[in-house]
Amino acid sequence: MADISTYEPLWGSWRVGELLGEGSIGKVYHVTREEYGRTSHAAVKIISIPQNESALKSLKEEFSDDEAVENYCQAQVNDIESKIDMVINFPAHNNIVGIQDYFVSPSYGGLGFDVLVRMEHLTSLADYASREPLSAIMVAKIGEDVCRALELCNLFRIIHRDIKPENIFLTSRGDIKLSDFYKARQLERTMSGVSKKATHSYMAPEAYHNLEYDSSVDTYSLGIVMYYCLNKGRGPFFPPAPAPVSSAAKKEAIAKRINGEPLPPLEGVDSGLFKIITRAAAFDKDSRYEGATAMREALAAYVKGKSKYTQEAVEFTGIEKAKKGSKGKSPATLPPKMPERVSPVSARSRYVQYENQQPDFRVKFHNTVINLSTAILVTIIIVMFIKFLNLDKEIYRIASPYLPTIASFFTNIWDKILGFIS
Ligand SMILES: Nc1ncnc2c1ncn2[C@@H]1O[C@H](COP(=O)(O)OP(=O)(O)O)[C@@H](O)[C@H]1O
Ligand SMILES: [Mg+2]
Repeated sequence: MADISTYEPLWGSWRVGELLGEGSIGKVYHVTREEYGRTSHAAVKIISIPQNESALKSLKEEFSDDEAVENYCQAQVNDIESKIDMVINFPAHNNIVGIQDYFVSPSYGGLGFDVLVRMEHLTSLADYASREPLSAIMVAKIGEDVCRALELCNLFRIIHRDIKPENIFLTSRGDIKLSDFYKARQLERTMSGVSKKATHSYMAPEAYHNLEYDSSVDTYSLGIVMYYCLNKGRGPFFPPAPAPVSSAAKKEAIAKRINGEPLPPLEGVDSGLFKIITRAAAFDKDSRYEGATAMREALAAYVKGKSKYTQEAVEFTGIEKAKKGSKGKSPATLPPKMPERVSPVSARSRYVQYENQQPDFRVKFHNTVINLSTAILVTIIIVMFIKFLNLDKEIYRIASPYLPTIASFFTNIWDKILGFIS
């Protein structure tokens, strides 16, 4: 894999900071930029194609000549670029991690490529869930937001195939965002063929077994992610936290799940949410939700029925707002403690504004005032314009023959109204 420092300063002004992590297809770094005394933060993912010298060697052995190797690598880059385009074309989508910029640079003497992608720097659900207990209502909100991102995947007819806590992020506004569409495959082309490096911990049984699968593998994995969030960061059949997890225990837990053992009940989680999780992550794919929309609607109905917990959802959305105020800190650091619950009454009124996404009274009032002011301003401008051009007399002259007709029209209407009232 290429050394990211060879590209410094990135985009002319970004400095590379700590390595945030390394996944199956690249490394992610924290980057910063100083501008007018202000520090901006972002995350940069570097994807090398091929990944290293030995991968290049295998490609050279597989293909007849260098041109074929280059064409193969170029096709991989095109695929990545199509996923980047999808994200860039939806900059206002609240539930996908925004891409700010990217570039492609040739590597390995022109045979391969490095793709560098700059994104919002956020806190992953994996980091957050390992520090904080997540309540049922928060987990339901995570589920709803990820479903919204999956609905976008449906629109593009792709399957994400990598739904896991490391690819789900929290923003300062409390939105949940999905990242890493790079492993996504077009629905039509989806039959089998999961990367050996893919995470098995959240993978649907049919994908694990390399059988034919469809977009329900994403809602399946989301169900398992929700289970993990409610189980102190442990998937189904894992030893309960905080006991350490050996690789044998992990293997055994995954084997039980992908062989169809029913998910163990979650202590302290009410049956409504548990039912949603078990339906999303049903072994038999015909028993699962029909799609992300159906799952999101089930979660929304669950949240709606749980108004007494809603303060947590409201506070959850404000988690990073509080943190944002802490000067000089990286935006990916979260405050350590969840807020206490408050009285259900105040929780309810705030919840209605937030969860139902109805414009509240202040928004409606604000819009009405803006509209009325605009109308008055436009009228004043028209009147001044008429006066300025001395058109008022001319207008009166043209309109005067019609004035009696207009007056009688309004008199008639007024009479009708009076008649109707009496
Ligand atoms: N935009 C981001 N902001 C902060 N951390 C990120 C961002 N994107 C990825 N990361 C973190 O970097 C690490 C490596 O990410 P990645 O290469 O996508 O691998 P994976 O998702 O398989 O863990 C992960 O822990 C991930 O949560
Ligand atoms: Mg990732």
